[in-house]
Amino acid sequence: MLKTRVWRVDAARPDPSAIREAAEVLRGGGLVAFPTETVYGLGADAYNASAVRRIFEVKGRPPDNPLIVHISRLEQLEELASSLPPAAEELARAFWPGPLTIVVPRSPRVPDEVTASLPKVAVRMPAHKVALALIEELGSPIAAPSANLSGRPSPTSAEHVLRDLGGRVEGILDAGDTLYGVESTIVDLTSEPPVLLRPGALPLERIEHVLGVKVSVPEFARGLREAEVALAPGMRYRHYAPRAAMVVVESSDYGDLARVARTVARLALEEVRRGRRVCVLCTDETLGYYSEAAAEGVGLKSLGTREDPFTIARNLFRRLREVDDEGYEFVVAEGVEERGLGLAIMNRLRKASGFNIIRV
Ligand code: TXA
Ligand code: MG
Repeated sequence: MLKTRVWRVDAARPDPSAIREAAEVLRGGGLVAFPTETVYGLGADAYNASAVRRIFEVKGRPPDNPLIVHISRLEQLEELASSLPPAAEELARAFWPGPLTIVVPRSPRVPDEVTASLPKVAVRMPAHKVALALIEELGSPIAAPSANLSGRPSPTSAEHVLRDLGGRVEGILDAGDTLYGVESTIVDLTSEPPVLLRPGALPLERIEHVLGVKVSVPEFARGLREAEVALAPGMRYRHYAPRAAMVVVESSDYGDLARVARTVARLALEEVRRGRRVCVLCTDETLGYYSEAAAEGVGLKSLGTREDPFTIARNLFRRLREVDDEGYEFVVAEGVEERGLGLAIMNRLRKASGFNIIRV
C-alpha cells in the first residue's frame, strides 16, 4: 500500500508548489491523478515506458487498450505524430485546448505501451489549468486514461479517484468536480472520412461543421455493440458499468415521454415486486410519472434536464456510482435523443447496461 498524497488546488489558479511536487513524482516514474475538463485522468510521463506499464497494473486495465497522450502545446503534437493530416491542424485550431482527442500516425518516439503497439497515437490538449500546468512543469506529454478502476464509471471528482485508486497511486491533484463529466470525443484522422471512435463532451456536429465533411459513425461509437479490435481495442471491454443489472429504455420519439416512462415504470415495478432493490434513472421532465413506483419502494434519481443535456452528461457517472453505493440491484434508465451531447450520453448508458436495450 502506498500513501496517496492529495494536493487540494484551486482550479483557476493552482498553487505552483503543488504542481511542482506532482511533476516531481511523475519525473520519478510515479503516477499522479489530475483533473481535466472532462473527467480525472491517471497520469504518467508518456515517455517513461515502465511508468506507463504501471498505469495498466493499477487500473487493472487490459494491456491492449491504448492511452490518450495529453499535451500542453502544439509542438508536442508534432513530436508525437509521424505526420499530420490537414484535419488535425484544423481541429486543433478550432477546439484545443478542449474535450477533443485526435488519433494520428504515431512517431517511433512513443512507447509501445502507450499505443498498445498500434501504428497510431491518440492526443489531446485538455482545457484545464491544473492539467496544463502539470504537463508544462513536467516538460513532457502525459499519458493518462480515466482515473477509475477498469470497468468502473469514470471519476468526476477526486473522491471518486480516491475510492478506486487510493493506496495504489502516489498522488491526486484535487480541484473539485470536473466540468463536463463525460470523456473527450475521439476522432480517428488516419482514414478518410474521419471515424468517430468515441462520442464525448465535444458534439460531433461541431467537428463536422469545422471539417466540412461527415464523420463516419460506426455502430460501436453509438454504443450499440462492441468494437472490433482493429479499430479501437479499448472499446471491446464493458465500461462504465454499475454492479447492478441495468436496462435502458429508448424511444424514436422523446416528444412522447409518457410512453417511455410507462415502460420504465412497468419494468421497475416488476423487479421491485420480485423483492429486488430498484432505481429509476430519469430526467427532471419525467420525475412526475413515477409516483406509483416510488410508493412501492422504487428509488428515483434524475440525471438532469432534457432541455440542457449538459446537465445529464455532467451527472451521469456520479449517479452510476451512487446506484452502487446505495446498494441497488437493478437500474432502469431512460434514454435521451441521440443528438449533440446525447450521442455521448447514449453511448455510456448503453455500455453501462451491457447493451441491454428496450425500444418503445
Ligand atoms: O476525456 C478523456 O478522454 C479522459 C481524460 C483523462 O483525458 N481520458 C480517457 O481515457 O477517457 P480512457 O483511457 O479512459 O479512454 C481512452 C480511449 C480508449 O477507449 C482507447 O481505446 C482509445 O481512447 N484510444 C487511445 N489510444 C488510441 C489509439 N492509438 N487508437 C485508437 N484508440 C485509442
Ligand atoms: Mg476510461
